[in-house]
Amino acid sequence: MLESKLYIEGGRSLQGEISVSGAKNSSLPILAAALMHGGTSVIHNCPTLSDVYSALRILSSLGCKCKREGKTVTVDAKNVTGCEISEALMREMRSSIVFLGAILSRTHRCRLSFPGGCELGPRPIDIHLHALKKLGVKIIEDHGVLDCSLTGRPQAADITLPLPSVGATENIMLLAATGDGTTVIRNAAKEPEICDLASFLTSCGAQVTGAGSTTVCIKGTESLHPSAHTVMPDRIVAATYMGAAAITGGELMINHVTPSDMYSTMAVFEQMGCGVYPYSDRIFITAKKPLKAVKTIRTTFYPGFPTDCQPIVMAALCKAKGTSMIVENIFENRFRAADELNRLGADIKAEGKVAVIEGVKALSGASVMAHDLRAGAALVLGGLAAEGTTTISNIAYIDRGYESIERELSACGALIKRM
Ligand code: UD1
Repeated sequence: MLESKLYIEGGRSLQGEISVSGAKNSSLPILAAALMHGGTSVIHNCPTLSDVYSALRILSSLGCKCKREGKTVTVDAKNVTGCEISEALMREMRSSIVFLGAILSRTHRCRLSFPGGCELGPRPIDIHLHALKKLGVKIIEDHGVLDCSLTGRPQAADITLPLPSVGATENIMLLAATGDGTTVIRNAAKEPEICDLASFLTSCGAQVTGAGSTTVCIKGTESLHPSAHTVMPDRIVAATYMGAAAITGGELMINHVTPSDMYSTMAVFEQMGCGVYPYSDRIFITAKKPLKAVKTIRTTFYPGFPTDCQPIVMAALCKAKGTSMIVENIFENRFRAADELNRLGADIKAEGKVAVIEGVKALSGASVMAHDLRAGAALVLGGLAAEGTTTISNIAYIDRGYESIERELSACGALIKRM
């Protein structure tokens, strides 16, 4: 089968409204949580993304019946029999490690392959495993397979994370939700997706307090019950469309967002000279003035500037007047957009944790390749601003995190097609 590519005729300024989908990074742990009881969960605002389909395949492989109608997914977990995630499914989506806590909660056993590295560099899970051991899980590592087991209910524990890992915080919350007593996570991740998972687990009968702060407490219950939940808006998708407005000198109303989850990102666009106006669940961004460089941007844990928005902002800074610097503190290999943006005429020098971006007057269309999800989104932004035609290959990466990005952007005046 021929691979699809995105074709963009750039140079058009975007105008209009875009609605943001439910958050991918919130849907995945919530779908994992749906297998923790024997009932049917109803998850609204669940985005149509390849990563979500991977999560549904994992649930089906464990015996769940999953159904999607529009944006609503139902997961009937009555007949969960399996406790193993195949290597093929683990390779499809390395963040499927978040299923570990949920499967252990339900079946007290889980076998899955070690996630290994990914396009962003090594993806260690030492913090996850160390914490799960404190909850009473026995873990045997054998030839790349993790065989995990639990005798009886998880035991409550007081766990201090060495760094506030999102995935590790989620895995602990999932397992502790059926624990015997109250588990405390210190130095927990504070990302909004943690709060979304906490609210789902609480609606299922666990008691989670402190989500969004450094200390999360989970009072477990022997049996969770089914519940319905609406997934929070995707703040990274929202930031991507803000980037599209910024780089094209456009004006967009971004609907269905939670502005209070996005202060650090909105601040960066303001420093670039954009007008950013948050309303209750929308953000209006206007970029009618030339973009300005931003001296230094450092990625860090929430509420700091998110690593996932870094390639998006990097793309916009390519056209900003002056020199910007980005320091990437979370992932080792997260400047993969830089070389491809340079093919479009950008001037980025990236070495180690630091990228220096000299703004250029114009970008010009070229053939480029997405090397990871957000790097792919950065290339879409580059293509929108570049004169002439940009062709982006490897767009399966983009489909992991964006629901039909070409449809949303076309509706606002972009000339972008999938062929
Ligand atoms: C999640 C998000 C991802 C985002 C990232 C950081 C999902 C599905 N993915 O990934 O989009 O970029 O948070 O906001 O929600 N680390 C260890 N050992 C561990 C776990 C993590 O050293 O056991 C390190 C990682 O290498 C990384 C840092 O901790 O440097 C943060 O990783 P983490 O917060 O765990 O990211 P993910 O949950 O994988």
